[in-house]
Amino acid sequence: MKVFITRKIPESGLDLLRKEFDIKVNPQNRALTKDEIIEGVKGKDGLLCLLTDVIDKDVIYAEPNLKMIASYAVGYDNIDVAAATKCRIPVSNTPGVLTETTAEFAWALLFSVARRIVEGDAFTRAGKFKGWEPLLMLGQDVTNKNLGIIGAGRIGTAFALKSKGFQMKVIYTDEQRNEQLERELGAKKVPLSELLKESDFVSIHVPLMKATHHLIGEKELKMMKKTAILLNTARGPIIDESALIKALKEHWIFGAGLDVYEYEPKIPEELKKLDNVILQPHTGSGTIETRTKMALMVAENLIEGLKGNIPPNCINKEVFLKKTTK
Ligand SMILES: NC(=O)c1ccc[n+]([C@@H]2O[C@H](COP(=O)([O-])OP(=O)(O)OC[C@H]3O[C@@H](n4cnc5c(N)ncnc54)[C@H](O)[C@@H]3O)[C@@H](O)[C@H]2O)c1
Repeated sequence: MKVFITRKIPESGLDLLRKEFDIKVNPQNRALTKDEIIEGVKGKDGLLCLLTDVIDKDVIYAEPNLKMIASYAVGYDNIDVAAATKCRIPVSNTPGVLTETTAEFAWALLFSVARRIVEGDAFTRAGKFKGWEPLLMLGQDVTNKNLGIIGAGRIGTAFALKSKGFQMKVIYTDEQRNEQLERELGAKKVPLSELLKESDFVSIHVPLMKATHHLIGEKELKMMKKTAILLNTARGPIIDESALIKALKEHWIFGAGLDVYEYEPKIPEELKKLDNVILQPHTGSGTIETRTKMALMVAENLIEGLKGNIPPNCINKEVFLKKTTK
């Protein structure tokens, strides 16, 4: 069978796939356009895609024999899963293997913003450090503060659990109760408005979907403490970026740490000019170990799916239910 891979992933995954299939990997070191993906998928049985690829109806319908879409990411807001399901194409993602890595990254952002690490580094390199100063670059303490988790799923839970050493009061908002957080941290489930008002650090871990688009806008940012820090390692459009720019400019909050952007990879010039925000290039899951595990996972999913089996991380298992009840 033939597989199209929209961009080079770690060799561990490619090696597994080469043993099973005739694979074609995008030879260019850039994300492909939709037209290029459509061209690439023609005549293929499987598609291995990334979160930067728009996998909509046009792509899904481009190849009538397409049998499997395996995404190299946990979030799948870029894929029209309903359209794939309609065509009985299983779609898979890579959950779990990147949980701890992404949670660690959110902590790296939290400390970097709270203690102004990036600003301090630039200041020191620029030769501006003239010795210890009582009022130089003052930040925010972390220990004993209130930590607010928006979306206490896999990553939100791992992020919250890592607060243990800092004796923080953890509150969370989610559609479901998180008994682990309640048991291990005494965490409390609260409405979003209460979380925003109470938290010193707010970390976003919900998936991007209709209900979470612009979940944080002007009204929500105004509810936050002036000393609070907002972190987003989930997906950019969950925050109304222009409202956030206003909030940072006018100091409604202390700062923000962002790994993702509303119109990724475009980042507004205004945001780049602000020194109370730390900007990262969507590298939340970016460690050698984790990207290797993701590569193996995406390959295993594709192999199982193309064999006609339910891929271990299938998002739309109903595809198989329909097949058996037909
Ligand atoms: N920055 C990165 O590189 C990076 C890496 C991995 C994941 N992510 C993002 O993080 C997201 C979370 O990943 P995960 O593995 O923890 O997912 P998950 O499904 O385990 O957790 C998501 C949680 O959000 C909750 N939720 C869903 N809709 C909600 C709503 N409207 N209000 C409140 N809670 C809601 C769910 O109940 C669930 O508990 C992914 O969807 C992805 O977009 C980003």
